[in-house]
Amino acid sequence: MTPPESVTRRELLAMGLTGLVGSALGACQRSPAVQWLAAATPAASFVPDVELAITARPGDASILPGASTEVWRYSGAVVKGPASTVQPIADSYLGPTLHFRRGQKVRIRFSNWLPDPSIVHWHGMDVPAAADGHPRLAIAGGADYVYEFEVANRAGTYWYHPHPDMQTGPQVYRGLAGLLVVSDDEEDALELPTGTHDLACVLQDRRFDGDNQLVYSTTMMDMETGFLGDRVLINGRPRPNWALATSAYRIRVVNGSNARVYKLAWSDGTPMTVIGTDGGLLSRPVSQRHVTLGPAQRSDLWLDLSGRPVGTTLELRSEAFELSDAGLVRGGRGMGGGGMGGRGMGRGMGMGSSLPLGAPISLVRIEVTRREASRPRLPERLSTLEPVVPPAAGAPVRRVPLTFQRMQWLLDGRVFAMDDVARDETVVAGSTHIWELANVGGPMGMQMGHPIHLHGRQFRVIGRTGGSPSNTLRDGLVDGGLMDTVLVLPDETVRIQVTFSTHPGLFLYHCHILEHEDMGMMRNYRIVPG
Ligand code: C2O
Ligand code: CU
Ligand code: CU
Repeated sequence: MTPPESVTRRELLAMGLTGLVGSALGACQRSPAVQWLAAATPAASFVPDVELAITARPGDASILPGASTEVWRYSGAVVKGPASTVQPIADSYLGPTLHFRRGQKVRIRFSNWLPDPSIVHWHGMDVPAAADGHPRLAIAGGADYVYEFEVANRAGTYWYHPHPDMQTGPQVYRGLAGLLVVSDDEEDALELPTGTHDLACVLQDRRFDGDNQLVYSTTMMDMETGFLGDRVLINGRPRPNWALATSAYRIRVVNGSNARVYKLAWSDGTPMTVIGTDGGLLSRPVSQRHVTLGPAQRSDLWLDLSGRPVGTTLELRSEAFELSDAGLVRGGRGMGGGGMGGRGMGRGMGMGSSLPLGAPISLVRIEVTRREASRPRLPERLSTLEPVVPPAAGAPVRRVPLTFQRMQWLLDGRVFAMDDVARDETVVAGSTHIWELANVGGPMGMQMGHPIHLHGRQFRVIGRTGGSPSNTLRDGLVDGGLMDTVLVLPDETVRIQVTFSTHPGLFLYHCHILEHEDMGMMRNYRIVPG
């Protein structure tokens, strides 16, 4: 395996890898004889607490009645450390759930047994650049890549998925994704529901052909709107029935869809009680009618069934919303001239799916099937989030317009190039910045919501302005916690504050509508040592 041409010695230096490659690189930099040692060889100085082997390979899964479906999937094994680190999900194409403790040192050997290049990204995790799964680190089929990092994140629900250039959408869609759950002492002390009372709920929409095979398309329209399936799978299965007890549950909802936004609610009007977001627990639980979840976002829910009689049924649903609340509309909201004015009257796109964005969907059916002696108590205080202290007065705000130009979605007018970093995308390790994500759209009112994701660090939302007051997705936003992905609704401007990681090197920020990412609505940012 040779290093990608584009990886320079300076980048290896920036990634802190010279200790690994040492003199070999110094002697013959950029020579094809130089192995991509940093990636392929574990560091002798790194003593892992946990060592895993993760493999991606083609396989099949029984998803719908009848023929099985060809998928690509991750599997995993524990080489060193607690056996409970890798927990497969029964009957699912999803990869095993990885359970880490904060502070653990982790080594993961990833083996790519796919016919295409790939690389794994640990979404939401604060890891060194060499362990972040940047597309320039993608490895060919048959190759291995070794990740080493210390689990720095707070307890919470993270996930992992592939990140090769221009192929993230199709690879995730084929089944490559898994959960990564971090626990820590602070969270343990709260005695939140665990074991069988800690449930995963990964939402992914898919389209199937008559032979139960996955259908994916990259027509211009599907790329522009993001690819929508016509049915939603939960943990890789069609709408499940959960038989639960009269007790409290923690439900980790992950939007693992390529492009679909959900407006989550309980069918009986029970408020959604949110205890955590992308980056772990909120300071206090939040109760509201809906939870809006954009692609890649997570919501940790608390559901207390202790007061319900056995036999009670309940559904987790995505409720109806207007296509124009998040989806691609030309002509703009309420701007469709010539007597076509009014909400949702613009020309709606994304009709390749029979389940348009905003269609109501029943996701999970819950039945209370047994009594269980429990007196659940939801802690009033969950965590201490650092208050958002703005950087020094007059600190510059970097405006990042989200636009559509030259038939492409762009970040700040730019398109992704493997090593390209602009001056305003270069930040000092550990420095705090405000970025203003301005959903400007394109010509003739072309607009849609974009879930903007930052690698490497969780951030805080410090402002959200503009947008339509009649957009019902707004009531479901949970902006108070730590996030790595924020849904910027049409016409909105969202300010985020981030204190960048101390790991130098190249990281990404991008739209997590995977078709937008693959089209190039993605950019590098570089962390330079302070
Ligand atoms: Cu979840 Cu850059 O991705
Ligand atoms: Cu990520
Ligand atoms: Cu987008």
